[in-house]
Amino acid sequence: FSDFLTDTYQRQHDYLRISLTERCNLRCVYCMPEEGVPLSPERELLTTPEIIMLSSVFVSQGVSKIRLTGGEPTIRRDILPLMRQIGALRPHGLRELCLTTNGLALHRKLEGMVEAGLTGVNLSLDTLDPWQFQIMTRRKGFDAVIKSIERVLELNMHGAGIKLKINAVVMRGVNDREIIPFVEMTREKDIEVRFIEYMPFDGNKWNKGKMFSYTEMVDLIREKYPTLEQIQGHKNDTSKTYKIPGFVGKLGFITSMTHNFCGTCNRLRITNDGNLKVCLFGNAEVSLRDILRRSNNGEPIEEEAYEAMRQIEMDRRQGLSDQSTPLGLAPNEQELLDVIGMAV
Ligand code: GTP
Ligand code: 5AD
Ligand code: SF4
Repeated sequence: FSDFLTDTYQRQHDYLRISLTERCNLRCVYCMPEEGVPLSPERELLTTPEIIMLSSVFVSQGVSKIRLTGGEPTIRRDILPLMRQIGALRPHGLRELCLTTNGLALHRKLEGMVEAGLTGVNLSLDTLDPWQFQIMTRRKGFDAVIKSIERVLELNMHGAGIKLKINAVVMRGVNDREIIPFVEMTREKDIEVRFIEYMPFDGNKWNKGKMFSYTEMVDLIREKYPTLEQIQGHKNDTSKTYKIPGFVGKLGFITSMTHNFCGTCNRLRITNDGNLKVCLFGNAEVSLRDILRRSNNGEPIEEEAYEAMRQIEMDRRQGLSDQSTPLGLAPNEQELLDVIGMAV
C-alpha cells in the first residue's frame, strides 16, 4: 500500500482528524442552533476500541499527526484513556497528537492529556470580553476558557512544549473590534492567534456582509502595526502566517472563503459515525465503521480502507480541489455555498 495515503494531486495525507463526538457544551452562533444539532443513535457512533483500531491502521500507513475534534472532544467521558491509547502509537510513527477544543473543560483534563502525549491545542475563542462571550456562545464559561489558556502556558513554562493556537472567527459588527486586542495577546505570549473568515453553515444566517475578509483584517492590523510581515508557515497549514517583529507569538489567517488552500491540504477526516472523508467540502464519504464491523474477526482492514480512499478520490470535486474558493474563483457560487452548508 505504498500509495495508500497519496492522492492524484500527489498530496501525502499524513494528517488525520477524528471527530470524537457531535455534542458540544457551547452553542456558538455561527456553528450551532440554540437547540443543538440532531444527535445520532449511540450504535452508529464509533466506539473507543474502534477509534483506536482505526488510528492504529492509519498510523501504520503513514499518518504522523492525529487531531481530535468534535463537537467538543473533551466532553467524551473516556477522552483520557482514549488519548493514552492513541499516544501509545508514538513508537509506530505518530509524531503529533492534537486537540481542537473550546477550552471549557480543558483545564481539568490537561495534565492527563500531556501525560498521554498531547502536543498541540487549537483553542476556539472569539472574544476577550466575558459578556460578548456569552452572546457569541450562548453560554457562560469565559473564565474557564481563560484558565485553560493559562494552564497551557504554565505547563509550557515547565517544558510541556504544547503548541497553542487560538482560533477566532471574525464576524463584522459582532467581534471585529477585538482584532487588535487579540493581536496584542501575541506580544508577550507564545501563542498563534488565527483569525478565521466566517463561513456559511446550514442555518447560521451567514451573509456576505457579516464576513470580514482576510485582506481587510491584514489592512486593519497593518494600520496599527506597520511592520506586520508575512512569514513562512508550515507546509500543510490551512492558514497564512504573519508576525509583528518583536512580538513573541504569531498571527494566522484561515481564508476559507476568499483564498483557497486545497493544494496543500493533507487532511483525512473520520466523522463521529465512522465515515472517512478527504475534503471538508466534498460529499463523498465511506463508512469505515461498517467495514470494521463486518470484519469482526479482527482481520486487518487496510485493503478495504484503501479501496475506500480510491472511491473517495474518484469522487473528489475537481473544481474545488483545483483552484476555486466559495467567494473567489468559484464557477457557481451558490452551488458551492450549498455544498459547504451541507458538508461542513
Ligand atoms: P492545524 O493546522 O493542525 O493547526 O489545524 P487546522 O487549522 O487544520 O484545524 P482546526 O481544528 O484548528 O480548524 C481551524 C479552522 O480550519 C476551522 O474553521 C476549520 O473549519 C478550518 N479547516 C480545517 N480544515 C479545513 C479544510 O480542509 N478546508 C477548509 N476550508 N477549512 C478547513
Ligand atoms: N465559520 C468559520 N469558522 C467556524 N468554526 C465553526 N463554525 C465556523 C464558521 N461558521 C470554527 C470554530 C473552531 C474551528 C474548529 O471551526 O470556531 O475554531
Ligand atoms: Fe461549535 Fe466549537 Fe462553538 Fe461548540 S465550541 S458550538 S463545536 S464552534
